[in-house]
Amino acid sequence: MNKDYLLFHKPFISEEEIDEMTDTLRSGWLSMGPKTIRFEEEFNKYIGAKRSVAVSSWTAAGHLTLEAFGIERGDEVIVPTMTFPATAEIVCYFGAKPVIVDVDEDTLNISLEEIEKAITPKTKAIIPVHYGGQPCDLDEIQAIASAHNLKVLEDAAHSLPATYKDKKIGTISDVTCFSFYATKTLSTGEGGMICTNNEEIAERCAIMRLHGINRDAWKRYSEAGSWYYEVVAPGYKYNFTDLQASLGLPQLKKVDAMWEWRKKIASRYFDGLKNLDLIKLPVVKSDRESSWHLFPVRLNLEMLTKNRAQIIDELKNNNVGVGVHFMPVHQHLYYSETFNLDDKNFPVASAAFPRLMSLPIYPGMTDQSVEKVINTVTDLLNKFRR
Ligand SMILES: Cc1ncc(COP(=O)(O)O)c(C=O)c1O
Repeated sequence: MNKDYLLFHKPFISEEEIDEMTDTLRSGWLSMGPKTIRFEEEFNKYIGAKRSVAVSSWTAAGHLTLEAFGIERGDEVIVPTMTFPATAEIVCYFGAKPVIVDVDEDTLNISLEEIEKAITPKTKAIIPVHYGGQPCDLDEIQAIASAHNLKVLEDAAHSLPATYKDKKIGTISDVTCFSFYATKTLSTGEGGMICTNNEEIAERCAIMRLHGINRDAWKRYSEAGSWYYEVVAPGYKYNFTDLQASLGLPQLKKVDAMWEWRKKIASRYFDGLKNLDLIKLPVVKSDRESSWHLFPVRLNLEMLTKNRAQIIDELKNNNVGVGVHFMPVHQHLYYSETFNLDDKNFPVASAAFPRLMSLPIYPGMTDQSVEKVINTVTDLLNKFRR
């Protein structure tokens, strides 16, 4: 690897995670056990939800949530197109229909008008995605949901920590699901968390994450446990593990410090790039705070001689790694063919996608690296000015 190459993302792992992992390996308890329980408790305390249930991924968390909502074949669930396909695929697991809708021009979060237009008698739930970490218009979404008796599952894969009107994301809707995937703001390699104030939903998810067993299997094997257990429903193998908790516990202690680091980088990008007319910077609404999982900019292609792919290649050649988030769900082969989706019904996302480029933003990134991104993006784009 070229040592001057600035990676798009780097995990923020220190000696604490290594020590905690070593302790777990020496303990002989590798799967779901006491550290998983501690991680759930501490995460729950940090968020301020009634219950937090740890699982193997966001995808597992979303699947279990829709199961607890009682989603069935033929139901409809509203999903924004600007997301990772997992948000839509969990609806398909039930033979239900993900009703894909367009997003807001400024934030690329789900459009309120499009939600209203998509509601039918079959609609059962809405899954707003906090794109890049910026919370959606949750008050308005809740008002629509209440008026139509719909459930809300927040896709907060990007938004730990983030706030909406001074409330932490994770405390607001029926259920909020977080992701601890490798690149996320708190990482356990793979992992997810279901946060809810509804005891019944939490209990159902806790049972279904481990084969539908009516008590946690880890207790069976501990001294406090017994050999007896009962299966109350055909559940899934979606449990979290103490190996993952070994990363999660120390990461949780520094989650606010990691957020501060991201906020500082975002603020520097705003300042350093504000006069560059060749890109559109993210728009953040004043009543909420983004986690800054992503810093997505949109290229002003009309003023450039190169397209997004060529610009990304040029940035790479100049040792700056960038990402693209996301190819809209309605453009993926399966979704466009199965649900007969066309760009013309998604004007905002379809226009945004070819312009989108996410700049590196992560704790551990030095001031020098941030300046390098600002200077390289500015110089290269000016070089390709039409
Ligand atoms: C918006 C969004 N939702 C859901 C997911 C799925 O998360 P996981 O990989 O933890 O299943 C991702 C992953 O990148 C995501 O970006």
